[in-house]
Amino acid sequence: MGFMGSGKTSVGRELARLLGWTFRDFDDAVEAEVGRSIPEIFRERGEAFFRRAEARVGERLLSEERVVLATGGGWAAEPGRLDGLPEATLSVWLRVSAAEAVRRAGSGETERPLLAVEDPVSRARELVAEREPCYRRAGMVLDSESASPRELARTIQEYMRIRGDGENVSHAKSG
Ligand code: S3P
Repeated sequence: MGFMGSGKTSVGRELARLLGWTFRDFDDAVEAEVGRSIPEIFRERGEAFFRRAEARVGERLLSEERVVLATGGGWAAEPGRLDGLPEATLSVWLRVSAAEAVRRAGSGETERPLLAVEDPVSRARELVAEREPCYRRAGMVLDSESASPRELARTIQEYMRIRGDGENVSHAKSG
């Protein structure tokens, strides 16, 4: 989890590859369920509709095992989200500054409706400040600007190895 542009998808995909687990992205799953792109959903149905779809998709994906999930940037900031995490789930906050998030999101035609405003850096600063208390509750915090997606994924993998993550799942599966 983490703000837009924090690298959730690239780090998540790399971590799943390292672990041999499945990778799933909340935004992709919402787009598949609704049959529209994220910008279309925001434009045609509004943010509240998107948040409900995101909540449903999140519940479904969190019930899967051996899966690396990339949430949408706003998912963890909704009340109660992190309270409902399955016990064995490791949550990771990829931390990014508002300025870097906007730089990574690019300019012009944006995939991120919430940053499609006149002053995206100020908007990003407000959202980051609002959301940080929620992100901060993650089990692991990594500065996403200090390392490449591959290095970040390796750091998470190493932390999981020390915690013994994934072991219970494989034992359960092998009976
Ligand atoms: C959002 C982040 C986006 C996407 C939607 C809303 C947010 O996901 O879910 O545009 O509220 O921060 P990414 O963080 O993957 O860009």
